[in-house]
Amino acid sequence: MAQASLLSPLPAYAPIEAFGVVARQTASKRNHTISKAIRCTKVSSDESHAEAWDKVAPGSVDLGRRDVFLSTATLTAALLFSNASFNPAAAADIKTVFVAGASGSTGKKVVRELRERGFAVRAGVRDVSKAKAGGVQLDDKVELVEADVTQGADSLAAAMGNADAVISAIGYGGGGDASGYKAVDNEGNKKLVDAALKRKVSKFVLMSSLLTNGKEAGQSLNPGYIFLNLFGNVLNEKLESEKYLRSSGLEWTIVRPGGLKKDPPSEVGNLITSREDTLFGLPTQPGKDISRDTVAAVLVEALRQPGASNKVVEVVASKKEPERPAAEWFKDL
Ligand SMILES: NC(=O)c1ccc[n+]([C@@H]2O[C@H](COP(=O)([O-])OP(=O)(O)OC[C@H]3O[C@@H](n4cnc5c(N)ncnc54)[C@H](OP(=O)(O)O)[C@@H]3O)[C@@H](O)[C@H]2O)c1
Repeated sequence: MAQASLLSPLPAYAPIEAFGVVARQTASKRNHTISKAIRCTKVSSDESHAEAWDKVAPGSVDLGRRDVFLSTATLTAALLFSNASFNPAAAADIKTVFVAGASGSTGKKVVRELRERGFAVRAGVRDVSKAKAGGVQLDDKVELVEADVTQGADSLAAAMGNADAVISAIGYGGGGDASGYKAVDNEGNKKLVDAALKRKVSKFVLMSSLLTNGKEAGQSLNPGYIFLNLFGNVLNEKLESEKYLRSSGLEWTIVRPGGLKKDPPSEVGNLITSREDTLFGLPTQPGKDISRDTVAAVLVEALRQPGASNKVVEVVASKKEPERPAAEWFKDL
């Protein structure tokens, strides 16, 4: 993996390229950068998160099937995460995994990856018959269970059943209500964490996004950070769920991918992992997008690799990157 050392800290005047605009992050040009970024990007209210990534990093991302909407949703109070207990789960103890968002573009790949590695799956979906028709149930070791994260934690705990671990690959699908990101990406994931606590699962892996902590990471002026948050505050909402998980006492891994592509790794490139708040989708960095296949593999390996415990891993891909064994993916984070 390209380790964080390859990603030297951004110089004070790091160039930011977005929307075909190269601007310098100087104080005098900040307003220009932001307004230009917004002006140069024709945001329609039904563009997806993937389309948003594509505008930030042109040509890089496949269209997701999700619509997203502008939102005026505000941030909820930040949660402290200083007292998380550390209790690494032995991967061997994890036999059954609950996948939230198992019908999604990444969720389906997670289910497949889990089966290939011998885990039984409880596939959490909103519509069981639709998921069945969509091919989520690969074999009799995949049990489809109804799980809408806008429902209470008790019903989600029931859906988790005997699962030993949880992978969340949910994301708001649009549909007109701008508060959806708060309800799904933020509060929905929090409810999953509450349910996981009730079930006393040994590990929770959360699929999040690059730049969720953009503000703290000095990326407030990064067009990606600005632009993606125009869509229902999506990054800020995801950050809230990250904080909640980190403070939960569960063993966790947070996986933050760049722009998601449906193409295989042979076309998108090999995995690059890096530590928290180091990858920002900038042209000066080694990659900005990633195959959903690779993301699914990372989400599943996070259950198996002890080095993934209680870590944030940021992931992109590059054709210049050599292929590396999974045992190295979470090293030096
Ligand atoms: N697109 C990108 O470039 C990009 C980059 C970084 C991170 N991400 C994030 O990565 C995650 C996965 O992306 P994706 O493209 O695989 O997503 P996707 O195909 O849109 O799948 C989203 C999943 O979430 C489920 N879901 C939505 N609302 C739900 C609810 N109320 N209760 C339970 N499940 C619900 C959907 O279920 P249904 O099938 O029932 O609708 C679906 O299974 C998302 O959180 C996304 O924001 C995306």
